Amino acid sequence: MILGIETSCDDTSVALVDMTGAILFHRVHSQENLHGTYGGVVPEVASRAHVDVLPAMVRSALQETATSPSRLQGIAVTRGPGLLGSLLTGIAFAKGMAAPLRLPLIGVDHVQAHLRACLDSMETLEGKAIGLVISGGHTHLFRIERWPDMDLLSQTVDDAAGEAFDKGAKILGLPYPGGPSIQREAAKNTLPLLALTKKKIRTENPLDFSFSGLKTAFTLTVRKTVVDERMRALLAASLQQAIIEHVMDRIERIVALESPAHLLVGGGVSANGLLRDRLDAFAKDRGIALHLSPLSLARDNALMIAQHGRERFLAGNYTPYPYESFSPYPRETTDIRVKKSVPQS
Ligand code: KG4
Ligand code: ZN
Repeated sequence: MILGIETSCDDTSVALVDMTGAILFHRVHSQENLHGTYGGVVPEVASRAHVDVLPAMVRSALQETATSPSRLQGIAVTRGPGLLGSLLTGIAFAKGMAAPLRLPLIGVDHVQAHLRACLDSMETLEGKAIGLVISGGHTHLFRIERWPDMDLLSQTVDDAAGEAFDKGAKILGLPYPGGPSIQREAAKNTLPLLALTKKKIRTENPLDFSFSGLKTAFTLTVRKTVVDERMRALLAASLQQAIIEHVMDRIERIVALESPAHLLVGGGVSANGLLRDRLDAFAKDRGIALHLSPLSLARDNALMIAQHGRERFLAGNYTPYPYESFSPYPRETTDIRVKKSVPQS
């Protein structure tokens, strides 16, 4: 069995899977109520909350499945990227548990693990795939020639897609997390949408993402508007549309360039209903197999860490995390490859 631990941001999560990928235990403890009043995640509050709940959650995982720690074959833990203090709580706990048991410690890349959540436990991919992770901290586009190896093709040059939702919600006085709030508010809109960007967003790499110009355009529009209930819904719907247009633009470009057989989309923003509909229609139109993360696994969770760690462990394709390392990001990793040359359209 592999125990998975995820503490990269504001969700504490623990999972236990067996070597076939069967799910024995999975639990997520959300800190949303702690951060809501601040309109965003407060790193120190997040780290302390992980420390409070993680040991009890791991104990529950073992007790409720009647698993003795000696039956574990490895511990998979999110090694990054994420909030440093939050990551360290999970990593320190995992090291403390793995060292006396001499268990392999499998440091898992959080962003890549989001793509694991797009596949069923036993599912593997035949043919080329493109993976997009859109969350509160990341907007990463990958080429996957042979799962689970992947090349990073592009990312955001400023804000992440989820950050654009979160900041937009804050500007409108809507509760954190912003994505679901904006989606709910947008659903009330009956007016024609506002155009928030006048020109196409240009980045040096045509596949990179950029949301900061959109945020500025949104801020300026809100300032000029008397925000009553109708206008709030209109602004939310217009922001949602603009973010999704930008994401779809990049998807269309990469699909035109790479002609993939599969498209994987995961991360918190992949829970967005409008985006899911657009992706669904697009994939059907192009004859691409779409693998959307199920809603229950779109946000941060330890199941994706346990499954990704299990697969890499079984393939012998992982970087063992040294127990004695103080760094959350070990220098040598085998699983991060960045594509250097920029694909040109
Ligand atoms: O993957 P996740 O839980 O954490 C990170 O790794 O960042 O993603 C959280 C992000 C937040 O920015 C949140 O606003 C966004 O996902 N999100 C959504 C929706 N649900 C969550 N964005 C748009 N529409 C949603 N329905
Ligand atoms: Zn995440």
